[in-house]
Amino acid sequence: MNTMSLSKESIEKLQELKDKFPDRRTAILPALHVVYDQFGYVGDEQLKEAAEVVELPYVELAENASFYTMFPKKPVGKYFIQVCTNLSCALLGADSLVDYLLEKLNVKLGEITPDGLFTVVTVECLGSCGSAPMMQVNDEYHENLTRERVDELLEEFRREGTKKGGPPS
Ligand code: FES
Repeated sequence: MNTMSLSKESIEKLQELKDKFPDRRTAILPALHVVYDQFGYVGDEQLKEAAEVVELPYVELAENASFYTMFPKKPVGKYFIQVCTNLSCALLGADSLVDYLLEKLNVKLGEITPDGLFTVVTVECLGSCGSAPMMQVNDEYHENLTRERVDELLEEFRREGTKKGGPPS
């Protein structure tokens, strides 16, 4: 089986979306979720396939995928770490937190650690400015970060991520 292709389940879900939303553009966001849930990222090939199933122009899916930073465009580690570097977070040390993470994990921005566990990226404001500095890891926010808290979190993720079955998505 081509692992880059949509699964039967994903195709069925996309077909349901197509039937459910007469105004097809309403299906864009849920369609991106279907692709993301299967692959952990939304790449061009997957979007082209999904666009055909939901009968939407590929470019509309691709534009929306670029707009929403929670959808990585290429494969990422099991823990996708998005650090906000906008004003409030920057004022409270986001940049040095990013450097700390990269140094600790020994990767560059956007790379996957050799153990497949982590990818770090920087993102625009995630709407949690009152709890700066903060980062989103997969679906969860981690706020009021310090280096100590980052150490604890990485430790937790490592424990969880190397368990059989890996982390929850
Ligand atoms: S500036 Fe970081 S969450 Fe808003």
